[in-house]
Amino acid sequence: MKAMYSTRLFLLTLGLVVAGNNVLLAEPKSGYEYIKDETRALQDDDFDNPGMLTVDRGLELFNSLLPGASKRCANCHQQDGEGLDSKSIARYPVVERSTQTITTLQDRIIACTERTGVKALAPDDKNLVALQTYVRHLARGERVAVDTEGLDALLARGEKLYTTRYGLIDMACQHCHVFYPGTMIRGQHISEGMTNGFPAYRLDIGEITTVQQRVQQCLNLMRAEPFASGSEELRLFELYMTVRSNGLAIETPAVRY
Ligand code: HEC
Ligand code: HEC
Repeated sequence: MKAMYSTRLFLLTLGLVVAGNNVLLAEPKSGYEYIKDETRALQDDDFDNPGMLTVDRGLELFNSLLPGASKRCANCHQQDGEGLDSKSIARYPVVERSTQTITTLQDRIIACTERTGVKALAPDDKNLVALQTYVRHLARGERVAVDTEGLDALLARGEKLYTTRYGLIDMACQHCHVFYPGTMIRGQHISEGMTNGFPAYRLDIGEITTVQQRVQQCLNLMRAEPFASGSEELRLFELYMTVRSNGLAIETPAVRY
């Protein structure tokens, strides 16, 4: 009863009117444009940006042996990952066209942790997220550049997920992030839900957060059952949302509320 009441109140505050459908934007805007000035200042200063601690941790892990490992990432990709190509990192997720398999940057790193001689790390493993944050940070300033050729079927599935209504509040992602960017909700401006800042540091929870974790958090906000970590649905979300973010400069680690 109480839940129903607060749900209605929530919808009322939002003013739920839906018109048109324009999910792939001609000119996407980074979440950076929607955050408060103080948050922007935090992100802009590497000494103040709390996400930089995770970048440093990722760098340290990159150059050292993971627990139980016989090889370092740096053994194959040079000290500090200097052998990695930032333009190539900006193209993730990548898709194997013949099998339509999505490989996110995290998937690639999981496969690579096995190359170091340890068993595959779980998607929410802190060491994995730190490595992922460090690697994506190497591409900071590069433009998000997912190659969309031959992705129609996967993007259609992503769009389906993005436009489906979920949870008690019976809304879809697009209701907030396509129709209502700029609207205030719980003291924050709703953004277009782009992925160029991720992994990003969230002040609200005080943690670095991957794109897929952010999707789970929005589903929680919608009072819906989030898709499981490592699920194909979250991979489709990430692919779809990163295509929406094509052209935006990578900000990792962004700071967000
Ligand atoms: C034994 C050598 C080896 C080790 C150790 C290794 N990698 Fe890799 N890595 C590769 C190879 C080879 C590729 C090329 C793509 C593929 O076949 O997966 C690659 C690809 C990558 C890519 C994608 C690069 C691109 O341009 O698409 C990233 C990112 C990466 N590795 C990160 C890591 C991290 C982080 C670690 C440590 C956990 C690590 N690698 C350990 C061999 C290694
Ligand atoms: C009721 C409104 C609402 C709905 C519905 C919603 N979100 Fe969000 N979302 C927010 C708010 C508020 C934030 C924090 C401010 C911002 O960055 O937009 C946010 C942030 C995000 C961000 C981070 C953007 C950035 O730059 O940091 C992503 C990505 C995101 N949402 C994805 C989703 C996905 C995927 C769905 C559907 C499963 C969804 N959201 C549904 C309100 C919503």
